[in-house]
Amino acid sequence: MVILRNRSLCLFLFMFFLVVLEVHASHEINRKLQSTSHNVVKKILRPKFHFRPPKHWINGPMYYNGIYHLFYQYNTKGEVWGNIVWAHSVSIDMINWINLEHAIYPSEVFDKYGTWSGSTTILPGNKPVILYTGIVDDEQTQVQNYAIPANLSDPFLRKWIKPDNNPLVVADESINKTKFRDPTTAWLGQDGSWRMLVGSLRKNKRGLAILYRSRDFMKWTKAQHPFHSAAKTGNWECVDFFPVSLENTDGVDTSVIGDKIKHVLKISLDDNRWDYYTIGTYDTKNDRYVPDDTMIDGSHGLRLDYGNFYASKTFYDPSKNRRILMGWCNESDVFPTDDIYKGWSGIQAIPRKLWIDPSGKHLVQWPIEELETLRKKKVELRNYKLNKGENIEVQGITPAQADVEVTFSFSSLENAEEFDPSWVDLYAEDVCAIRGSTVQGGLGPFGLLTLSSENLEEYTPVFFRVFKNPDKYKVLMCSDASRSSVRNHKKMFKPSFAGYVDVDLTDKKLSLRSLIDHSVVASFGAGGKTCITSRVYPALSIYGDTHLFAFNNGTETVKIDTLDAWSMDKADM
Ligand SMILES: *[C@@H]1O[C@H](CO)[C@@H](O)[C@H](O)[C@H]1NC(C)=O
Ligand SMILES: *[C@@H]1O[C@H](CO)[C@@H](O)[C@H](O)[C@H]1NC(C)=O
Ligand SMILES: *[C@@H]1O[C@H](CO)[C@@H](O)[C@H](O)[C@H]1NC(C)=O
Ligand SMILES: *[C@@H]1O[C@H](CO)[C@@H](O)[C@H](O)[C@H]1NC(C)=O
Repeated sequence: MVILRNRSLCLFLFMFFLVVLEVHASHEINRKLQSTSHNVVKKILRPKFHFRPPKHWINGPMYYNGIYHLFYQYNTKGEVWGNIVWAHSVSIDMINWINLEHAIYPSEVFDKYGTWSGSTTILPGNKPVILYTGIVDDEQTQVQNYAIPANLSDPFLRKWIKPDNNPLVVADESINKTKFRDPTTAWLGQDGSWRMLVGSLRKNKRGLAILYRSRDFMKWTKAQHPFHSAAKTGNWECVDFFPVSLENTDGVDTSVIGDKIKHVLKISLDDNRWDYYTIGTYDTKNDRYVPDDTMIDGSHGLRLDYGNFYASKTFYDPSKNRRILMGWCNESDVFPTDDIYKGWSGIQAIPRKLWIDPSGKHLVQWPIEELETLRKKKVELRNYKLNKGENIEVQGITPAQADVEVTFSFSSLENAEEFDPSWVDLYAEDVCAIRGSTVQGGLGPFGLLTLSSENLEEYTPVFFRVFKNPDKYKVLMCSDASRSSVRNHKKMFKPSFAGYVDVDLTDKKLSLRSLIDHSVVASFGAGGKTCITSRVYPALSIYGDTHLFAFNNGTETVKIDTLDAWSMDKADM
């Protein structure tokens, strides 16, 4: 009884069906099936047979000899506790994937209770190695292990060996051994020693990245000071540390340092399940990371994606000189009926190329160019004026499975509404909930109405609102799921996701790209300065009953300079 409603772009990557669900009498077992980090999934249900949605993490994606590898956390057997494995898929374009046998699974004393997240590193001589967290007992004691390919001549690297000298790193008495996980890709310092980070938690909710060094990759020594830490941020998971180039949008290998390089530290906050990052400097003398002054550690900081996006990982792709970001779009509703209704759960976001904005103030992301191979029929619109309250329908493509790029322009910023000073401490999401698409404004709201039913009983608007702030303009970008489904379950998760867009408005233009995929809307504002992925579950706007509009609900007329929309093909899995 697989209810499969979605032929999705995201689904292209991995299809995670919740198969047949049943209500289980005991909460106990289910709670155990989750790792301690998963307070989200206090489900009163469990899959009847083997498939569960993958866990949060993307494990060390990598490029090796012409092939992209994606490892991800996967729970093979509902009834066996802690059975988290490293599932493994390969691709030549990161759009079409082939599933292989699991790369790593619990089997040894050093990982018998779980093979949790980690990363890959390519060692000199073109030798890949996986670092991962092993769970050694039912108290969830965590250690760091490694694995290597059994046969480097196998182009798919199907089999992985876990050598006997594991674990490589165990928690010393200063570390909470149940909060000690997800080793990063290692980088090589100029002194010839390798470094890696492990996420952790200290008392008073101080999150931290513990630094280890090694000359031979086998014997690791803890540095005296954490690489970075921040008070009141809670446990850090899936830490990612990488350099970005100030010269162009190219990526650089993880060990690169230099004048024209900044560094990024990404943390996944266990407490609220979002991915945050700061941009800063790698102080190689003291072996510490120092975020720039304008950066904020923790939940008021920058997010890679202001929607459903967690436990992401980047890797350097030498074949196209780019850094790629892969992330997990979570979902899990409070009621099993909602999950059954959806029929499947948990997808991977479309891989994105990632680089630093020339301002140095934030990152920029864009769907990998390979996605464009799925573009089919195209429609376009030029120089179309939208007055207040006007919608225009984008016709001639499949609106439930589409890629849309639009550039709006306006003649003046005069009409922008005042930014209410009382919103300063609010999250963008809260401001979007207050000033949604139905609240008419000055300059905006304008944007796209995705996954709309014919008469707008349901829709997910992705839009901008421009505010006047004393010193400058403030651009809010929303992806608002609050009207996404007429199913009005009280507890159904329908957030008004939003982020601010750090964009210069002197040319009086704002662009938006949305990848619409039945139950996913992934949007990229102003060329990828702000990204928001929404998972939504429409009831009316499905398949052929879906519509796509551009709209304006502000007094300032906005012009669609260009709108290009494509029907999207499905990928091979
Ligand atoms: C290693 O892989 C290559 C290529 O697939 C294969 O020809 C060879 O037999 C493998 N070696 C072993 C020991 O399995
Ligand atoms: C480790 O962290 C967990 C969760 O925060 C906490 O319950 C436990 O007491 C901590 N253990 C130690 C030894 O501090
Ligand atoms: C996804 O994660 C967020 C953040 O933890 C959580 O609030 C939400 O309930 C989860 N489920 C869905 C459907 O997004
Ligand atoms: C535009 O504003 C009007 C008036 O508030 C509202 O009825 C309509 O739903 C809004 N349009 C959108 C797309 O939200």
